[in-house]
Amino acid sequence: MGTLLLGKRILVTGVITDASIAYHAARLAQEEGAEVVLTGYGRLSLVERVADRLPEPAPVIELDVTDARQLAALPDRVREHLDGLDGVVHSIAFGPAAALGGNFLHTDWADVATAVQVSAFSYKALATACLPLMRDGGSLVGIDFDATVAWPSYDWMGVSKAALEATSRYLARHLGGRGIRSNLVAAGPIRTMAAKSIPGFADFEAIWETRSPLPWDLRDPEPAARGVVALLSDWFPRTTGEIVHVDGGVHAMGA
Ligand SMILES: NC(=O)c1ccc[n+]([C@@H]2O[C@H](COP(=O)([O-])OP(=O)(O)OC[C@H]3O[C@@H](n4cnc5c(N)ncnc54)[C@H](O)[C@@H]3O)[C@@H](O)[C@H]2O)c1
Repeated sequence: MGTLLLGKRILVTGVITDASIAYHAARLAQEEGAEVVLTGYGRLSLVERVADRLPEPAPVIELDVTDARQLAALPDRVREHLDGLDGVVHSIAFGPAAALGGNFLHTDWADVATAVQVSAFSYKALATACLPLMRDGGSLVGIDFDATVAWPSYDWMGVSKAALEATSRYLARHLGGRGIRSNLVAAGPIRTMAAKSIPGFADFEAIWETRSPLPWDLRDPEPAARGVVALLSDWFPRTTGEIVHVDGGVHAMGA
């Protein structure tokens, strides 16, 4: 047991399997002394089964991050378990099949709008929903995939991640006065459920195999989750609007 997050109350979104980056962020947060509540989307019974495998079984609140009523109800639902929040993890992304996989020039606005709403605007929606619970400041953390360059197949998800990066900077600007930080972990590729729905994910795997200066394990979500826990902790007290790359160093290499 560590003490990095001792006494902190953390809301973690985005757990769907025990490979989810969010699952490992929740597990490590508990191991560092935090109280954790999860939100789940869709198959709630599945999320609950995964939540029971955490070191401390965690309660699960239903949250579709595009549902205004569920967002409005979130503070009361969280208060059933915790009297406030010190940290919120946004680990949510979705792009319709037509928005990825090389179809960039032909994707309809409706599909683009869905990708941007679920993957970027939702970070702002989640943050504002949680504000009533964060009266003493706190830390917001989202999960990014480096959006400074164009990747094979990633297409409108890449555009959504660029929007997420900008959203995080504006949250940092608008919430800094309340002592709330907003930062992202830009993770390298990890074989999760979301990754399986990216056609051409194998291209990412090949890129990391050849370009990562540090050895990169596609089956290991823990490095990214450790980055999340570090940003939730008190060890980045004056860091906001930042993107911490947990990608083996790929972003810093020329080729
Ligand atoms: N796996 C990777 O290679 C990788 C790399 C960089 C960044 N990321 C990012 O990490 C985050 C987590 O993804 P993951 O790889 O752990 O996959 P995952 O499939 O385990 O998690 C994605 C989560 O998004 C949730 N979600 C989708 N639509 C939602 C909605 N409307 N409301 C609420 N939740 C919704 C799903 O329920 C799921 O829990 C995402 O933002 C993803 O883009 C993943």
